[in-house]
Formats: sequence, structure tokens, C-alpha cells
Amino acid sequence: MMKILVTGGLGFIGSHTVVELQNKGFEVVIIDNLSNSSIDVLDGITAITGVKPLFEKLDLKVKPDVTRFFETHNDIAGVIHFAANKAVGESVKEPLMYYENNIGTLVYILQELSKLDKQNFIFSSSCTVYGQADELPITENAQVKPAESPYGNTKQIGEEIIRDTCKVNSNLKSIALRYFNPIGAHPSAEIGELPIGVPQNLVPYITQTGMGLREQLSVFGGDYPTPDGTCIRDYIHVVDLAKAHVVALQRLLEEKNLSNYEVFNLGTGKGSSVLEAIQSFDRISGKKLKYQIVGRREGDITAAYADTTRANDVLGWKTQLTLDDAMASAWKWEKKIRNK
Ligand SMILES: NC(=O)c1ccc[n+]([C@@H]2O[C@H](COP(=O)([O-])OP(=O)(O)OC[C@H]3O[C@@H](n4cnc5c(N)ncnc54)[C@H](O)[C@@H]3O)[C@@H](O)[C@H]2O)c1
Repeated sequence: MMKILVTGGLGFIGSHTVVELQNKGFEVVIIDNLSNSSIDVLDGITAITGVKPLFEKLDLKVKPDVTRFFETHNDIAGVIHFAANKAVGESVKEPLMYYENNIGTLVYILQELSKLDKQNFIFSSSCTVYGQADELPITENAQVKPAESPYGNTKQIGEEIIRDTCKVNSNLKSIALRYFNPIGAHPSAEIGELPIGVPQNLVPYITQTGMGLREQLSVFGGDYPTPDGTCIRDYIHVVDLAKAHVVALQRLLEEKNLSNYEVFNLGTGKGSSVLEAIQSFDRISGKKLKYQIVGRREGDITAAYADTTRANDVLGWKTQLTLDDAMASAWKWEKKIRNK
């Protein structure tokens, strides 16, 4: 069994990826400092897979702890690095916190990885690196635009750090995955997204409004140059996204990569508007979501959706689940956590 380190493995995308890794027979060790997750997620993963992953509560910002971890686990065959802070608004207010956590921890991990025999590394990047792209759908060759926020900048700088390191260390094999908009939960409703406080993302806001926790959803902007006037995004089911990580890891382990630094978009290739997302919720829940169209929100781009050709043809992965599947799983998860 190959041992894979998943940092941030108790978080939203990390936990779903741990499930898919264990389903494929990998041994997983998770590092998480629980800054944005709960220890109960371990039970959720165990309930789905029947296997309790190894877990180290560790803060990756503490360099000696990172070093100690890699000395103990010197048999790691690959690292999937999710751990980061991800709230755009917070990053504007606390830029140094974001640079320390998202950049510092990446550097420490790459330094330790460079001492190992097997140096396979997957990085969580984001479509935020494209900003408002000049052309849609967005290919990996689209220009990387100046970042709109410190958070977005950490993803751009993170990619540059990995690319520069790959140039001088041919043993390091790395893939940066640029996610579009991950939503949904595991169909078992054992794990899902756990937003702390007021949700920053559309789908948890929709499901909380559906539960009556929020009075209504504010739709930011109804006058965008899109068919229904609302913003368009590429919503990808988190289970599809998690599976892409396993495919990317296997690509590195089987040495199928074409260069030692590769980039792939992970999306469905289909854009959906905010109103289409609301209609999806209404369809799967049998409810009528209360919403109001309000003014535009600063920093929002009009439309973003992926060109998935490279992910489909080169990586050999494509999404299997629909927006309704994702919304139904998010709704099932919301009902479960509220009943708890
Ligand atoms: N969710 C999205 O919409 C989205 C989109 C694009 C990219 N990403 C990226 O994907 C990754 C995972 O996102 P997510 O939505 O699962 O976030 P999340 O907050 O649910 O998960 C991140 C996990 O990392 C942990 N963590 C943070 N800092 C840590 C540290 N210093 N040491 C140890 N653990 C630490 C948190 O406790 C959390 O469990 C992040 O890098 C994020 O920037 C997410």
C-alpha cells in the first residue's frame, strides 16, 4: 500500500479526496490543524470507507513540526496539499496571515519533500488565477491576470514557487489543479462543506436559506451581460473533483506526466448562472427559495467556465455528476447537520 500525505485532509475538498484515495487502496495520513474543520470528519471518512486514516494534528506553519513529521513518515509516496486559508474577503483584511499560511507552509513542505526518494506533489490552485478571462471557455493557456485579492495572489505565487522549484529539481514531479467552483457533498451525507459563520459561497447560502436559517438569498447583480443577467460559474461536484486528484496522483506515480510541472483545469466545462443554481435547488428540494436581486458585489467577475479538453484528453478525467446531483447532495448534507 502506498502512503499518501493529504494536508488539510479534514477540510471540504480534502476529506472527499481522502475517501476516494482509500477507495482506491491508498494508505492516507492526514495533517490538519483543525483551523477550519472538525475532528468529527474523521468519523465521517471512516463510516464511508470502513478505514480510519492516520491523523496528525499539526500546524504546517511550525517548521520544526513539519520536519519532524517527514522524518517519521519517510515512506510517503505522494503529497496532496490542500491546507490553506481560502476566504477572499478575509485575505484583503489579513494579507500577512494569508501569505504566511498559504505560502510559508508550501515552502516548508517542498523543502522536506526534496529530501525524499519519491517527490510527487499535487497543489490546490484555483480558476481565480485567470480573473475575468478574455475568452470563454478558459483554457490553461489563458493569461494569468493580476490577482484581485491576497488570496488569489497566494495561488499565483504558489504555482510560481512550484514551477521554479521543478526547474532546478528534476526529481520533483508536480501538478497544479485549477479548480472552478466546487460544491456538493458526499452522497452518503457523512461528509460535506462546513462553513463557519455566514457562508461565503453560493450553495451553502442556498441550502441554509432553504432550511430557514437565513431569511433570503441576496443575488449580487441582475444586470450582467449574461442571458439572465446573473453571474455565471462552473459548478463542479466535489466528488468528481476528489476523483481528479486520484487520477492526477496516479499519473505521477506511473510516470505518465509529460513534464515535471503540469497544470490542469478542473471544471465541468458548463457555465451555470446564479438563477440556474436556484432553479436547481427548487427542483431537487421541491421548495421555492426566497431570493432578492441586489446590487453587484465588488470584485465579482461576470462569467468563468473551464475548457476541460486538457483534463479530459491528457489527464484522462471528466466529470460524471450534474448540477442537480451536487445540489441534491448539498441539500441532504444540510438537512443532516441541522438535525444533528
Ligand atoms: N472550496 C473552494 O471553492 C476552492 C476553490 C479553489 C481552490 N480551493 C483550494 O482548495 C484547498 C482546499 O479548500 P477547501 O474548500 O477544502 O478548504 P477547507 O478550509 O475546507 O480545508 C482546508 C483545511 O486545511 C486546514 N488548514 C489550514 N491551514 C492549516 C495549517 N497551517 N496547518 C494544517 N492544516 C491547515 C484547515 O483546518 C482545513 O481543514 C485550499 O487550498 C483552497 O484554497 C478551494
